[in-house]
Amino acid sequence: MRTTVGIIGGGPSGLLLARLLHRNGIDSVVLESRDRAYVEQRQRAGILEQATVDALRTAGAADRLDAEGIPHDGIELRHDGRATRIDFPGLTGGRRVWVYAQTEVVKDLVALQLADGGPLRFEAEVTAVEGADTDRPRVHYTHEGRTRILDCDYVVGCDGYHGVTRHAVPEHLRRTHERTYPYSWLGILADAPPVYDELIYAHSERGFALASMRSPAVSRLYLQVPNGTDPADWPDERIWDELDARLSLRAEPGWRLTRGPVTQKAVLPMRSSVTEPMRHGRVFLAGDAAHIVPPTGAKGLNLAAADVVVLARAFAHHHATGSTELLDAYSDTCLRRVWRAEHFSYFMTTTLHTDPAQESFDTRLQLSQLDRIAGSRHAAAELAENYTGLPLDL
Ligand code: FAD
Ligand code: DHB
Repeated sequence: MRTTVGIIGGGPSGLLLARLLHRNGIDSVVLESRDRAYVEQRQRAGILEQATVDALRTAGAADRLDAEGIPHDGIELRHDGRATRIDFPGLTGGRRVWVYAQTEVVKDLVALQLADGGPLRFEAEVTAVEGADTDRPRVHYTHEGRTRILDCDYVVGCDGYHGVTRHAVPEHLRRTHERTYPYSWLGILADAPPVYDELIYAHSERGFALASMRSPAVSRLYLQVPNGTDPADWPDERIWDELDARLSLRAEPGWRLTRGPVTQKAVLPMRSSVTEPMRHGRVFLAGDAAHIVPPTGAKGLNLAAADVVVLARAFAHHHATGSTELLDAYSDTCLRRVWRAEHFSYFMTTTLHTDPAQESFDTRLQLSQLDRIAGSRHAAAELAENYTGLPLDL
């Protein structure tokens, strides 16, 4: 098989790229190692920035998002038993975010691609990418028990943190910067109404907690837990009790979340990682294949979408003019935004979580920083600008 752009990975970045290329008359093939049901049900992110929503609209994939997505104009930070609202539009000149689950973004993109796009092959596992330095890179993959080859003009690795495309960049040209964290998240989905009409990020001496949602009837909740935690050690009642304790306010003693059946439970490790450059020859990396962030700032999916918007624009420019200028600038353009989001995610993570080795000095610094955000319009605006997303071209 032959195509202009071979896309490895059918997660949000690969699927959105395929749609944006399709709109510009550029053909592509998407190869995804998992089956459709798995990809559509994998529970992950829930917050979309304005720029991500705009990209999905441009891709023609926002009908359900516009009907069912929940716009949010702020978040609540809780620390020291107090609540502080961060007013996004007021602090950023009108920006907001949307609650719309990654599972739904993926379902919408898959349906469109299967309806009128180029081939989207599930259970097609890429084993190697070769010829990044040539004008005809090749993708080797297995499908229906057979080894196959996809010949491409360009290859884009949208294959996530454990993908194979990164290895097409020779080791001596590739640099990975990483940070791991001494805690994980225990995430649950529950058939219970959200605790509040906005998200709550809580610092507490018992550890971090986050109250999010998927719909007016479904809550998504997270607790900081030690690395290596077995979800089986957290029966439902223990989770609810801990959420009550970490989210409670001094002014409302005895306050409790509305409980409901827990339908999913998983432990998520946390890591920051950036691989540079994001391009070698005719092979590009996008989304989690190039960088991951700890989830505390809700940036992972949004960064992935931003990469492919930049890349689709570069392919369209090349297609229309023959110029490789934007393709050549791709890695540098993305990395500026990536490092800003890495910093913000690191800041949110280390300000809100309790490191097991933390001393009282570190806790007082965290509380001082949170007091500053609560008391200073400038500090709150810095958080709001980063959370709602910075412009595509930093
Ligand atoms: P992915 O979604 O990882 O997609 C990569 C795709 O490539 C996958 O479908 C995979 O099956 C496929 N693939 C991999 N290898 C191959 C191969 N060899 N051949 C073919 N296909 C291959 N972000 C947030 O903002 N908030 C959150 O709460 C949050 N929770 C998360 C929880 C988990 C467990 C994880 C892993 C991530 C979470 N993220 C979260 C991050 C966010 O989900 C990702 O940033 C986002 O999925 C990135 O999209 P992507 O398309 O780049 O990568
Ligand atoms: C969700 C996940 C996040 O990491 C976050 O910061 C906010 C919301 C969510 O899954 O809803």
